[in-house]
Amino acid sequence: MSSAPPLPLAISARGPLRGTLTVPGDKSISHRSLMFAGLAVGESRIEGLLEGEDVLATAAAMRAMGAKIERDGDGVWHVWGVGVGGLLQPETALEMGNSGTSTRLLMGLVASHPITATFTGDASLSKRPMGRVIDPLSRMGADFTSSPGGRLPLTMRGLCPAVPIEYTLPVASAQVKSAVLLAGLNTPGITRVIEPVLTRDHSERMLAGFGANLTVEETPQGRIISIHGEAEFKPQQITVPGDPSSAAFWMVAASIVPGSDITVANVGLNPTRIGLITALRMMGADITEVNPRIVGGEPVADLRVRHAPLSAIEVPHDLAPSMIDEYPVLFVAAAFAEGRTIARGAEELRVKESDRIAAMVAALAPNGVPLEEFEDGLAITGTGGGPIAGGAPVASKLDHRIAMSMAVAGLGAKADVIIDDVSPVATSYPGFFSTLDSLTGRT
Ligand code: S3P
Repeated sequence: MSSAPPLPLAISARGPLRGTLTVPGDKSISHRSLMFAGLAVGESRIEGLLEGEDVLATAAAMRAMGAKIERDGDGVWHVWGVGVGGLLQPETALEMGNSGTSTRLLMGLVASHPITATFTGDASLSKRPMGRVIDPLSRMGADFTSSPGGRLPLTMRGLCPAVPIEYTLPVASAQVKSAVLLAGLNTPGITRVIEPVLTRDHSERMLAGFGANLTVEETPQGRIISIHGEAEFKPQQITVPGDPSSAAFWMVAASIVPGSDITVANVGLNPTRIGLITALRMMGADITEVNPRIVGGEPVADLRVRHAPLSAIEVPHDLAPSMIDEYPVLFVAAAFAEGRTIARGAEELRVKESDRIAAMVAALAPNGVPLEEFEDGLAITGTGGGPIAGGAPVASKLDHRIAMSMAVAGLGAKADVIIDDVSPVATSYPGFFSTLDSLTGRT
């Protein structure tokens, strides 16, 4: 988070990655687990919660609005909720740190409660657009005073009862979809979201699991998700699968470092999240799904990944929503592939924790990777398997995924890649560097 002092790190080339590892719990599911359990009457139990800064920001906000949330000595989280409609007025501003998901989903919850809440965030979050949620939530009756450009800090006043709306998503965003559905939970009548392009569907799956009356229809206009307010939530036992977006770094690392052979156990493989696996397989990656199973309503498997020569591809545009967080590390894979990879149709990358297109250009180009920048993506010419030059400093831009992606690039660089600040990694993957050490035999 913004308060942490910068933590520079030089990454040098390392030998093969070997062994079995687990990745932390899925970030999207972890946020939703705390929020939804915080709306159930009675005790929910959450295993495998991601204990990263982003999710802890959600926990703090839900506590500030009345939920009781505790972690026991075995790492299991217990939540006693307030009931749908029961959130309380927070006494102080809700500090969201770096977390866009916390901010946008909690704004949805506040929108249909009779409370006033102020949201603040770090320098990265304070640059990100909130207009995309302010617009539909205003239509439902919430009132906003935001910083210029619809940004944080902002104060919102919810309306209870709010007005149900039918809203067609203007951007492919699971956060916007979820914000409207969460506002609809405590709104009488039917709130509808029309999603022309499919985005991650964890909210829909989990809302139904908690007892919301929710229907999903596939139509020529897209998916129509209808939620009937006002909902009553029953407490749940949740097991959070490993985050495919965290597994992504190891999939690319093992693919590009010769001799690697790893198994990432317990990875969530929800079809709305697996675009990177599809893209890497198109490039020639050797990824095998072992022991596929269903955990907590989500498909899960262990992924065995072995080094393989990669070839350039044109990344299909329709994969973008299902790999939106994985583009930075896909760019790294492309830097080691044979030929010119083109990844376009991903303009949303400009408004993530950093402008991820600009940040990866600034990181890869001085480290010897030829590339061309487009408004909606990049073209990258790879080495064909050999090392990149490395040796240049990298700015992580308060963006965990830039820091981890460039650490992966450093594994295959001739000279050290020096990252100015790896502290943002704690937002989603606190143990990343110790896992890197153990996979490469340094512990
Ligand atoms: C998320 C949705 C995505 C993703 C983010 C988590 C979620 O954002 O980038 O890391 O949990 O709903 P958008 O919905 O804005 O694309």
